[in-house]
Amino acid sequence: MKKKLLSAVLSVAVVASLLVGCGSSDAGTTASSDASTSSSGGTRVGVSMPTKDLQRWNQDGSNMEAELKAAGYDVDVQYASNDVQTQVSQIENMISSGADVLVIAAIEGSSLGEALDMAKDANIPVIAYDRLLMNSDAVSYYATFDNYMVGTVQGQYIVDTLDLDNAAGPFNLEITAGDPGDNNAGYFFNGAYDVLKPYIESGKLNVVSGQKTFDECATPLWATETSQSRAENILSSNYSDGTNVDVWLCSNDSTALGVENALAANYNGTYPIVTGQDCDVENVKNIISGKQSMSVFKDTRTLASQVVKMVGQILKGETVDVNDTTTYDNGLGVIPSYLCQPVFADVNNYKELLIDSGYYTEDQLQ
Ligand code: BGC
Repeated sequence: MKKKLLSAVLSVAVVASLLVGCGSSDAGTTASSDASTSSSGGTRVGVSMPTKDLQRWNQDGSNMEAELKAAGYDVDVQYASNDVQTQVSQIENMISSGADVLVIAAIEGSSLGEALDMAKDANIPVIAYDRLLMNSDAVSYYATFDNYMVGTVQGQYIVDTLDLDNAAGPFNLEITAGDPGDNNAGYFFNGAYDVLKPYIESGKLNVVSGQKTFDECATPLWATETSQSRAENILSSNYSDGTNVDVWLCSNDSTALGVENALAANYNGTYPIVTGQDCDVENVKNIISGKQSMSVFKDTRTLASQVVKMVGQILKGETVDVNDTTTYDNGLGVIPSYLCQPVFADVNNYKELLIDSGYYTEDQLQ
């Protein structure tokens, strides 16, 4: 009966809300009260996270767990150790244990087909969390941050900091991108590259290694070690003669850490601008000590609140809040999405953004 209701709900047309960003308090309050009145009594939400290895997914998982529990749901949060088969089995177990809604942050967006088919057969709505689930018609909604904007924020930071419109240059740039299996990675890369492209084409930015395409710059599984060894190769092949690298565009914090390790071990020139994303603790420490220039802050609390709100709306048969119905095509159609706004963070605003907001304590960043 409940499953029938759910499938009926999901066939209702989605109305795009005009909301921009994730109003965390608003979203959280609405979700909590909606859900606690309607969804108590054993409604189960399965939350599948890619890995515990990267800080952000631990935070996403624990925020989701806390918020869903507070809203009265039974919650099953699983982390898949960045192993696709483990993630498939965990999702299948959630389905056979009676999940009513699934929230999935995929390791590889295209590799969960079987498990997603199983969810669809059981009429279980699926929300793609942060990373889009590709090539599947089982995906009801997508909630994420504006991934292209993450890249433009990084690119614009480089333009402004090097004063590319006025400075003579040329400046030397290297690029480290994300995991080819993660649909977000291309958006980050393209967002930044679109901002930097005119300067690369005019020669004001010079990619000394010559590695400028996403495929050349990619980092499988976003691994710090992989990023580090590629950066070490680039440094020893192109910069060991004393050439300075002026800026290293890194798509996120785990890859930025690899580059920072490589710079510490293999480079004696003027320290470059290094970008990142996530405001992971180690990277914020590096921002404070000058080893990283900026990060993009994606407050996982706001994303979790938005997703909990969506879960409540789905279960109650209400219109689900989305604010983008054009951007994210998963190969079989556009998935109605809610995009939260990423925020720029650096040494000047991290206290206000991260400590005053209660995201971290001062101690954690010592
Ligand atoms: C997320 C980033 C994260 C990366 C590595 C991406 O899908 O959007 O925030 O840095 O995965 O975990």
